[in-house]
Amino acid sequence: MTMKVAPSILSADFGKMAEAVQNVKDWGADWVHCDVMDGVYVPNITFGMPMVKALRKYTDMVLDVHLMITKPEKYVGQFCDAGADLVTFHPEASDDVQGALDLIKSKGKRCGLVINADQPFDIVDGYLDQIDLLLIMTVQAGFGGQSFKEDCVEKARMGARLRAQYGYEYEIEIDGGVSPKNIELLKDAGADVVVAGNSVFKSEDPALTIKQMQI
Ligand code: DX5
Ligand code: ZN
Repeated sequence: MTMKVAPSILSADFGKMAEAVQNVKDWGADWVHCDVMDGVYVPNITFGMPMVKALRKYTDMVLDVHLMITKPEKYVGQFCDAGADLVTFHPEASDDVQGALDLIKSKGKRCGLVINADQPFDIVDGYLDQIDLLLIMTVQAGFGGQSFKEDCVEKARMGARLRAQYGYEYEIEIDGGVSPKNIELLKDAGADVVVAGNSVFKSEDPALTIKQMQI
């Protein structure tokens, strides 16, 4: 399978978000990654449900919504209703991981869990048979444009090994500092989807950069 690329609109011009999602499609990307930050789980604030709802009007692409928020169980339903196709959250930020996953599924959307750079793989134990996406962070969540932490790639390998061993069905997504320079390493680790913020939006030729990662 070809690697899917999900540009993160966190790196786009916030005054031109409708244009950004149109560009992402024209450049040949696969999904649109939306980074939602609450200033509590992470020390940064981005946007919430209204942005997802607005973008939904301008694109038919998969909206991959990454929630970096406390108590995601309170909001996942609203993100689904706003038009998210996929909703992922950080289990250590939640008081009710099971309830949040069930709610996303009950809305007919795909659900996933995220392993932050400072978290061990075992925070997702017990949920691997239920999720559609396992998101492995290769930076500490909070900001775009950070440098790639290679030691986190081992968690993707672990996710791929367990998937092969137990027949789990989740896709593996990598987020943080991804570029054409590390794409082969990520492919080799078993990744199916990569998030790319700065490497795409700051590229002189975003379409080419995306193509170089669709390996
Ligand atoms: C970090 C976000 C990432 C980030 C990706 O907290 O979850 O999606 O914006 O941006 P780059 O690719 O620039 O690291
Ligand atoms: Zn993200």
